[in-house]
Amino acid sequence: MNGERQAARWPVLVAVGLLILITLIFLIEFILTTQAELAARQQAPGELTENTYLDRVAALLANANPGNGAKLVEKYNCIACHRAGAENRIAPPFAGVAERAPSRRPPLAAEAYLYEAITHPTAYVVEGFTPAMPQNYPDVLSEQELGDIIAYLLTPGAH
Ligand code: HEC
Repeated sequence: MNGERQAARWPVLVAVGLLILITLIFLIEFILTTQAELAARQQAPGELTENTYLDRVAALLANANPGNGAKLVEKYNCIACHRAGAENRIAPPFAGVAERAPSRRPPLAAEAYLYEAITHPTAYVVEGFTPAMPQNYPDVLSEQELGDIIAYLLTPGAH
């Protein structure tokens, strides 16, 4: 009697075991894909391609307003460091940045370079300057503001 009851439990145990196994496989797959996505977002400089950051930047630029970007670089005091002037050697002046950006950091596209320069300023440091740029802009700027600023800096004549 007792043995029969135990035998009747086997299918239940197998079903529960399979359920646990399937759950584990899903969990591991979820963790692995999440990590792969994170790694893709924070690409190390060695893995740059002409597409790096582009999906992200295209989304930021989709509704960007360069005119507002011009106001934001004053509001956030970017120009305190990026002001043009022979005696100012704190940061490269914004004047001419649209023309420099496409070739500043190959193979990055112009908008991808500007995005990186603002959100990961230590990833690449312009020759002749120190990594003095504040690193908290990703926390300070909204997505809209970040897009507006990049759009402004892509405009010939930005300064
Ligand atoms: C405290 C000074 C300082 C402030 C404020 C600052 N930056 Fe910078 N920035 C730098 C320095 C120094 C560099 C050059 C070194 C480097 O590449 O990190 C730089 C580089 C850059 C570059 C790359 C320029 C090029 O010619 O390749 C961009 C774009 C930029 N900053 C955007 C901004 C924006 C936008 C803001 C405001 C939201 C800002 N910076 C505020 C100091 C500053």
